[in-house]
Amino acid sequence: MADDAGPRLRQSIFGEPEPRIDGRAKVTGQARYAFDEPVSNPAHAFLVTSAIARGRIAGFHLEAAKAIPGVLDILTFQNVGDQAGPLPPPGGKGGKNTESLQSDRVWHAGQIVAVVVAETLEASREAAQLVRVDYAEETPSASFESPGAKTLALADVDEGGGGGGPQEGHEDPKVGDAEAAMASASVTIDQRYSTPPQHHNPLELYTTTCEWRDGQLTVYEGTQFAHGMKVSLAKQIKVDPADVRSVSRFIGGAFGSRGGLTHRTAWIAIAARRLNRPVRLEATRQQGFTIVTFRAETRHHLRLGASKDGRLQALAHEGWEATSRPSTYNVSGTSTTARLYACPNVLTKVNVVQLDRQTPGFMRGPPETPYLFPLESAMDELAYALGMDPIELRRINDTQNEPIKGLPYTSRHLTQCFDAASAAFDWKRRDPRPGSMRDGDWLVGLGCATATYPANVGAASTRLILAPGPRARIQMAAEDIGTGAYTSIALTAADRLGLPIGQVAIEGGDSSLPAAGLAAGSTHAASTCNVVAKACEMARQRLAEAAVAAKDGPFAGADPASLRLRDGQLIGLSGAREPLDKSLERLSGPLEIYAEYLPHGVSPDGVQKTYQGQMASARGGELKDQIRYSFGAQMIEVGVHRLTGEVRVRRATGAFAGGRIINPTTAKSQLMGGMIWGISAALHEATEIDPRMARYTNIELAEYLVPVNADIPEIEVILVPEEDHQVNELGIKGIGELGTTGMNAAVANAVFHATGVRIRDLPIRIEKLLDAPALRI
Ligand code: MOS
Repeated sequence: MADDAGPRLRQSIFGEPEPRIDGRAKVTGQARYAFDEPVSNPAHAFLVTSAIARGRIAGFHLEAAKAIPGVLDILTFQNVGDQAGPLPPPGGKGGKNTESLQSDRVWHAGQIVAVVVAETLEASREAAQLVRVDYAEETPSASFESPGAKTLALADVDEGGGGGGPQEGHEDPKVGDAEAAMASASVTIDQRYSTPPQHHNPLELYTTTCEWRDGQLTVYEGTQFAHGMKVSLAKQIKVDPADVRSVSRFIGGAFGSRGGLTHRTAWIAIAARRLNRPVRLEATRQQGFTIVTFRAETRHHLRLGASKDGRLQALAHEGWEATSRPSTYNVSGTSTTARLYACPNVLTKVNVVQLDRQTPGFMRGPPETPYLFPLESAMDELAYALGMDPIELRRINDTQNEPIKGLPYTSRHLTQCFDAASAAFDWKRRDPRPGSMRDGDWLVGLGCATATYPANVGAASTRLILAPGPRARIQMAAEDIGTGAYTSIALTAADRLGLPIGQVAIEGGDSSLPAAGLAAGSTHAASTCNVVAKACEMARQRLAEAAVAAKDGPFAGADPASLRLRDGQLIGLSGAREPLDKSLERLSGPLEIYAEYLPHGVSPDGVQKTYQGQMASARGGELKDQIRYSFGAQMIEVGVHRLTGEVRVRRATGAFAGGRIINPTTAKSQLMGGMIWGISAALHEATEIDPRMARYTNIELAEYLVPVNADIPEIEVILVPEEDHQVNELGIKGIGELGTTGMNAAVANAVFHATGVRIRDLPIRIEKLLDAPALRI
């Protein structure tokens, strides 16, 4: 009997829901986060942060602090200023960064100005509160309107080379003649929009523990990039990277806040070296608002021109992003908005505005989260101006070729996403007239927007050890920032080795393991799963070659390419099979494979760069020969109370096409979490700045609003099946940030539909709705 009698094999376990392999460890407290790592006899650090936003430190009064029993050391620029070099910019982007203890200079409010180290947390905290600092204060520039705010067109910025910033070779995408096309368009939209500063607030506070042993430093700090932490910290404190190890096995949320090295790490490492004793820091929630990065406030001028049938003729998008005084850090989202729809004439420009604030950085969905807000709001405004359904407007401007260079998208199922979402959401029930739908005292509004995020993938390496049992171990410096990354990696190995997932162990979060790049930019699943699949294929080949060479075995003389690993066995086309343990016996000792993965579009030294702590990834929106994005459709129903103006999200449906889904359980969780954060970014979150002092005023969770369960309705996530064989071997496009994008516009569009009030400045708050004619207050 031939094939039909052969083993019935599952082709793949990809796409089957799998709970997190570390879920039990996390909920039972077994999972070891950085602050949980045992070190012996640690001293405790507490940060002193700047009371002013701009100026110089004239002197310190440390007597009272030193008098607290148990105080061991106080670091200031006066005693450690020369021990650390410049801090790298966030994510390696954007010219220079601010300093902290390197000089008397104060760059922003809440900057670290001293580190008090003591025997106990209580003593360090008490002493820190007694540190008095004399300042020579200068008037700070708080935000866009402030005197002294300096605007730079990104295209004009010249960092003099070598800065590693995106402004090196920054090009503002443009094509055709947008001004002329705008002037002759039948219908135009010309509006300004803004998004506020927002701060990532992962549940796990920002902690750092440093321990030196025989000149070797181990840093326990949640990071999205073990090798980035290792190498950039080593450089900053002027030691050999070989002497630094980064360990962060579990991470309680990151969202970009743990993407690049921030100020505190060097000072804790130096404090531990000075004391010759481990030092632990757990910064407070309030300090977390100024000692790491944040999502900068943005402004936008967005213009659309269309013909009467709704086809876009012109698109012009100029953006402004806040940054710190010495930095040109930016996220620069016109690379996406210029390419999202078919349009023959596109003009874009990005500016940075230098202020006396900390340097911003990645926060979930940079840059699409802020930059899609103006475009997707303006598309809704255009739909109203045309008297057209907003989904129909997106449908007729859908394209399989991006407009700037005419390159084809590797896959784009935007219209299919809108079809799937609108069917589930019952979009048809929408009466397009603003203020026309009611439910008792609630004005009901339905809004939609496009979601999109580039499909990025980075270089990675891994070690696979296959031993009798059979059991597989995957070792790689991958980071699971809460995404379910370790589970996706284990699923990939289980699938490719034909083992139950319970027989695969993952060791990650440690720079002594093979480098696996940055867990950010929605790259990590594509990078890590592809390298693991490659290692597994190398293992299969080794086993198969040994099996066919064994004269007395069931596979003697067979083609090694025809042997497969399934169900814990090695299986031939003829139906011959043997337990994997038996195949392993032919090799001396456990099978150990080291694999490297270099994706399309990454430079040949990409893996080495990853080991050197540099980002080595191909960005799907900007490749020379491919345009790769994930897409989605967001639909929101809001209720706005006719008497109070209160806005409640009543329903949220998102349909997403993000290439191959490794694990629908964690993928849906990622997308749902993204949508929730999108609701939050539209309705809740804003860090308020005192315009005079350039200080944040709502720096705790009591005042920085984030949604609670009562704010969030049932979220429906639809995975639109998609195969993309061009993006990478496994066809993964990435979904980590996709769910957040477009949400802010979808919510604002729904609020307009409910009330007739167009909110172009986020967040949407009751006071902005008070003039709505539909409200009877
Ligand atoms: Mo994410 S903002 O790419 O860490």
